[in-house]
Amino acid sequence: MQIQARHRWRYARHWDFFRRWMRNPRTVAAVAPSSRELAQRMVDELPAGARRVIELGPGTGVMTRLLLARGLGPDGLLAVELDPALHARLQARFPQLRVLHGDARRLDALARGFVAPGELDAVVSSLGLLGMDEAGRGAVLAAAFALLRAQGCFVQFTYGARSPVSAAQLRGLGLQVRRGAFVLRNLPPATVYVYTRRQDGAPR
Ligand SMILES: C[S@@+](CC[C@H](N)C(=O)[O-])C[C@H]1O[C@@H](n2cnc3c(N)ncnc32)[C@H](O)[C@@H]1O
Repeated sequence: MQIQARHRWRYARHWDFFRRWMRNPRTVAAVAPSSRELAQRMVDELPAGARRVIELGPGTGVMTRLLLARGLGPDGLLAVELDPALHARLQARFPQLRVLHGDARRLDALARGFVAPGELDAVVSSLGLLGMDEAGRGAVLAAAFALLRAQGCFVQFTYGARSPVSAAQLRGLGLQVRRGAFVLRNLPPATVYVYTRRQDGAPR
């Protein structure tokens, strides 16, 4: 009975997410919520001992749940969601968590009061970076790296065959990228990428 209720809830969540994607494919950027496998691979990329994390585009909260389960308390996690309905549902699902309704491109302003510049351990992003223009991607990354500590990282997944941020844009921002796990069990399959500051002192 309990299992049936869980299946019904999951079905409703997937159907609702799909309807939101039909209405706004560029913003929602996926036909289904992330799989648990993808969420786990994203969370696995957090630096050891990470205590302050921001989640961008949490959607239905698949990754949010794992981030909280990993030991980040409500004081250690801030979630930023643009879609008003998804935001409201997420806040209802995690009433103790700070879930902001806002645009990740304005992260600098949104994160005030949560973390000081240079003190954030990681950003976990489900944003559809491929659907954004270069200026949008640049705004998200610049705002995130202004908050991240020197060794902090920006964890992103994409459905594309390569990093959603070009090598030229990464150079301009002083960043480097490492390819993480490829997750077949996701709709569609996805690859994790981890962005960090360039450590080689190369000119920007
Ligand atoms: C691929 S979906 C999220 C998948 C999520 N991991 C899940 O399992 O539900 C991308 C999410 O990013 C949100 N989003 C898109 N652009 C955004 C922006 N500029 N700022 C904040 N959230 C944004 C969308 O509303 C959507 O919830």
